[in-house]
Amino acid sequence: RKFDSVNGEVIKMLFKMAFLIALIMLIFLGTGCDRKNQMEHQTLQKEYFGKLDDVRSVYRYSLLNKNGLKAQIIDFGATLVALEAPDRQGQFADVLLGYDSLQHYVNDQSYFGGIVGRYGNRIAKGRFNLNGQTYQLTINNGENHLHGGLIGFNKVLWAAREVTTSAEPAVKFTYLSADGEKGYPGNVTLQVTYTLTDDNELRIDYEGTTDQTTILNPTNHAYFNLSGSTDQTILGHELMIAADHYTPVDAGLITSGELAPVEGTPMDFRTAQSIGARIDDDFEQLKFGRGYDHNWVLNDYTGAVRLVATLYDPRSGRLLEVLTDQPGLQFYSGNFLDGSVVGKGGINYQFRTGLCLEAQHFPDSPNKPHFPPVTLQPGEVYRQTTIYRFSIKDE
Ligand code: GLA
Repeated sequence: RKFDSVNGEVIKMLFKMAFLIALIMLIFLGTGCDRKNQMEHQTLQKEYFGKLDDVRSVYRYSLLNKNGLKAQIIDFGATLVALEAPDRQGQFADVLLGYDSLQHYVNDQSYFGGIVGRYGNRIAKGRFNLNGQTYQLTINNGENHLHGGLIGFNKVLWAAREVTTSAEPAVKFTYLSADGEKGYPGNVTLQVTYTLTDDNELRIDYEGTTDQTTILNPTNHAYFNLSGSTDQTILGHELMIAADHYTPVDAGLITSGELAPVEGTPMDFRTAQSIGARIDDDFEQLKFGRGYDHNWVLNDYTGAVRLVATLYDPRSGRLLEVLTDQPGLQFYSGNFLDGSVVGKGGINYQFRTGLCLEAQHFPDSPNKPHFPPVTLQPGEVYRQTTIYRFSIKDE
């Protein structure tokens, strides 16, 4: 009998333990789903972000998908300020460089996450001809024009509208760039729509029109660090770029006009390569760029969206795929980051702790007649679609 009662106690204890374990598991599962449930109820949020000197308010839009991914964009510069994606363990982290406050975006010199334009990238001496007329743009990078000038599209307030026609959360930003702005001809209206799909894609659709012949080549200038922490450089990330050629540059990073084969050079990313493996090679182009700061001539340019690059962080398991309909991709390895910029959480962004993959036309196209053209005529519509798709890869 004594044995029986001892046995009874043990069974009771086992029951209690099983109950406790079940309870803990339920709580655990519950918090896991929490993020997803939250998202399902509210896929788009708008919050006040700050005030500009002229007292106009800036808002931040948060797009949330059913898997818990989150993209945040402010209407100042139509700037992508945060992108949260999970690692192999399901831990979400922000994979973008940026700032905590509006004032930092106003003062920014690094183009963190902004839409740059009218012309993303450089135009030699800021000069070009259109229909027999010479246009002089403002000079803001050595003797050249870069990313639309000092106050480019990334430094203006865009009109924002939540898109309600799609099932997926989307925000459309519109900016009217007046005739003569920074020296560019024509009144240009540019619309940029950010959509976060349930396939974990951040899709950026551009649509532009003009009332006079002009040039247009906008892009997004997001800096990625897939580790989710800028304590680590991006040198361990593995990059693939589907390009047999790139456009060599001079010391001022102006394209020579040549399309050079990547074969046998540190510019060959046709199979995934660790970024740090060859970045300090004794190769003139890498000296000019202080690392990678070049445009790749993407294969299969037909105007259709195709996969052009993959970026993988072996430590976190995060994989980023870049899809675009553009002819070129500027890969910039964060060579101008030197610790002087104070970013999110008060962190000083050190050398090569972020990288950009900017879908665009080739640098200085207006002066290189054999490059795909960047002119836009009245009655035409400029279009671009670029997609940043996130997933996890097992080792
Ligand atoms: C671009 C350029 C770089 C640099 C960065 C911003 O990607 O190609 O040379 O100017 O923008 O710092």
